[in-house]
Amino acid sequence: MSFDLVLFGGTGDLAWRKLMPALFQSFRHGTLPEGGRIIGVGRDDLSHDQYREQIRSRFDSVDNSKRPNPEEFARFAALLEFQRMDLSKPDDYAALNTMLEERNADSVVMYVATAPALFTTVCEQLAAAGLNGFKTRIVLEKPLGHDLASNRAINETVRRCFTEKQVFRIDHYLGKPSVQNLFAMRFGNALFEPLWRREHIANIQITMAEDLGVETRGAFYEKTGALRDMVQNHALQLLCAIAMEPPINAHADAIRDEKLKVLRSLKPWTAETLSQHVIRGQYSAGKVSGVPVPGYREEMGVSPDSQTETFVALRTEITNWRWAGVPFYIRTGKRLAGRDAHIVVNFHATPHPIFNTPVGAVNKLVINLQPKDGLELHLLAQSQGNRSKAASQSLAPVQLDLDFDKRFGSERVGAYERLLLDVLDGRLNLFVRSDEQEEAWRWVEPMIEHWQSDTTGPRPYAAGTWGPSAASAMIARDGFCWSEES
Ligand code: BG6
Repeated sequence: MSFDLVLFGGTGDLAWRKLMPALFQSFRHGTLPEGGRIIGVGRDDLSHDQYREQIRSRFDSVDNSKRPNPEEFARFAALLEFQRMDLSKPDDYAALNTMLEERNADSVVMYVATAPALFTTVCEQLAAAGLNGFKTRIVLEKPLGHDLASNRAINETVRRCFTEKQVFRIDHYLGKPSVQNLFAMRFGNALFEPLWRREHIANIQITMAEDLGVETRGAFYEKTGALRDMVQNHALQLLCAIAMEPPINAHADAIRDEKLKVLRSLKPWTAETLSQHVIRGQYSAGKVSGVPVPGYREEMGVSPDSQTETFVALRTEITNWRWAGVPFYIRTGKRLAGRDAHIVVNFHATPHPIFNTPVGAVNKLVINLQPKDGLELHLLAQSQGNRSKAASQSLAPVQLDLDFDKRFGSERVGAYERLLLDVLDGRLNLFVRSDEQEEAWRWVEPMIEHWQSDTTGPRPYAAGTWGPSAASAMIARDGFCWSEES
């Protein structure tokens, strides 16, 4: 099946860092459908060959194992073309139309990897030029808006120009093998489902920690912050995957209907929970892996008195029969003690203790998302070595450790590679529907409004730590602690 993939923002950061490497990997693995053409779109005046050369030079900074050799690149480059466009000019879309009609590929993908401010313009212009026909799919990168109203406005325009089935809203976390494994663990195995409820689970913690700072994206991040950058999308998608009911089948809408129900069941915020259950922080200078790093306010593109949060920790509940009363904690931040994303499901303690167990030891399931990908089941067991009476009544923690990288290593594909192939295949399962997105915005908006009127600003935390101590105090008030403190 032939395809044309039009990459708006073809000379931009996302295209260089993620999309081209992913397309190349797929090409190398032989999974990219035959008969493809990738058209980079940008404002520069480049020939096809100049564009190919730009891309080739960018591969120099890609991890060695993922870098093409000259012969491979020459074959990959044959798929690449460049089209100069001013995205506000109808004539340029007409020229694109002509270019696509000449080839008449079986499917056309419009990947909008531009600045978000251009999303609606691109959609409207594509529709006006008749480039929204049934064989066209459109891919939209996050962030889609900066609050509920702007998200709705974008989605309304998108809906006017395309049917929902044509729209692929990317949340790259859904493409990660570890997140797909989460679905597989829950809905491909019967073992956990009976335990997956309030009667057995004491609390669930989602941590998405990064050791990197804002790098070169200071100006973007200033307007965005951790809540919009990570919580509204990635963290809530993980929460949905962990909390949703089993879908009736594996089709896109069945999955998305269940995720939507979770988002609708999130406990509404009150003045009290906003002040007690949400902690925002901002990194100050510190050390990450022993190396001194500047504070957020010293980063390029960041205001010296910035109030933007680089850390959020929050507590919420899901108000339905399965989860009522179970706290869900979400935590994400930049310049934390390490790069570590995981979910911890803490089970209740035994109802009546007959052994001595280490303080705070409970059964838990740890779902490692990155850098490790796997499952750890923490149990308590008797060590056989010591025959004293005290020892025979004492239990020690042990764990079953499944490492999916070791087991499936070479078969795994990266998030963007997987998602791009799904778009080419027309599979919407791992993409976000507009109603999910709007519901997520509806839920985060009270936090944004609360912060706007709260002049205390984010709490400072030293780079290289686990964030402000208030985040530990918040969870401690419920009698729990974060996974690294247990
Ligand atoms: C992006 C955010 O969506 O996700 C970045 O905009 C963040 O700020 C990134 O660094 C994290 O993704 P990953 O795959 O590195 O965990």
